[in-house]
Amino acid sequence: MEVVIVPDARAGGELIAEAMASLVCRKPGALLGVATGSTPLPVYEALSAKVRSGAVDMSRARIYQLDEYVGLPAGHPESYRSTVLREVVEPLGLTEDSFFGPDGTAEDVQAACEAYDRALAEAGGVDLQLLGIGTDGHIGFNEPCSSLASRTRIKTLTEQTRVDNARFFDNDIEQVPHHVITQGIGTILEARHLVLLATGEAKADAVAHSVEGPVSAFVPASALQLHPHATVVVDEAAASKL
Ligand code: GLP
Repeated sequence: MEVVIVPDARAGGELIAEAMASLVCRKPGALLGVATGSTPLPVYEALSAKVRSGAVDMSRARIYQLDEYVGLPAGHPESYRSTVLREVVEPLGLTEDSFFGPDGTAEDVQAACEAYDRALAEAGGVDLQLLGIGTDGHIGFNEPCSSLASRTRIKTLTEQTRVDNARFFDNDIEQVPHHVITQGIGTILEARHLVLLATGEAKADAVAHSVEGPVSAFVPASALQLHPHATVVVDEAAASKL
């Protein structure tokens, strides 16, 4: 595992956007796995600036969404589908045709999870998966105690994650769904390159446990230690307990 400490979130965003752009230059149809939350926004901003300036042509790239809430109505602004469309797909000048994610509105959620993993395999797998990290060490929505071999499946959010994510739902925890679909840790580990970005002091404990602690289901992000090509990009604040 490679750990890169950058001065701030903006520098982290620029570094990862550069890695994505150079991947797409080498492999125009690359499949980029994207995460939601506040942390990856500087990456998407830096990457869309490169597209606008003509530094990179992303028109053949494909975007895969990592996880999704279950039960929000289609088109809900805080569904991860709407979020990725708004924050990634549209700013990169792509269309919905190049975008795929888990179906959180499906009646048969188990079948939707299996269909997602099948589609991912048929698409050739993820070339670069961008990850954030929860304050409890989760990646995607794999909460502590998720199996390190897990596949895409339905999960129940912990109270801590619902509290953390309430800011996207008018600070009203009642509006935060209890259930989600997430790529499993085993699924995530199949991406060819994993890039985890963590910024801010609130992530310092989770980063220290993930990078320097034992590999453990109690800290899902520690599974990155098992991957042959994992890069952890942290700002000074998130690195403060390393
Ligand atoms: C959610 C997402 C994760 C994300 C995490 C951290 O739980 N499912 O993919 O990494 O939030 O979000 P933030 O970057 O806003 O702290």
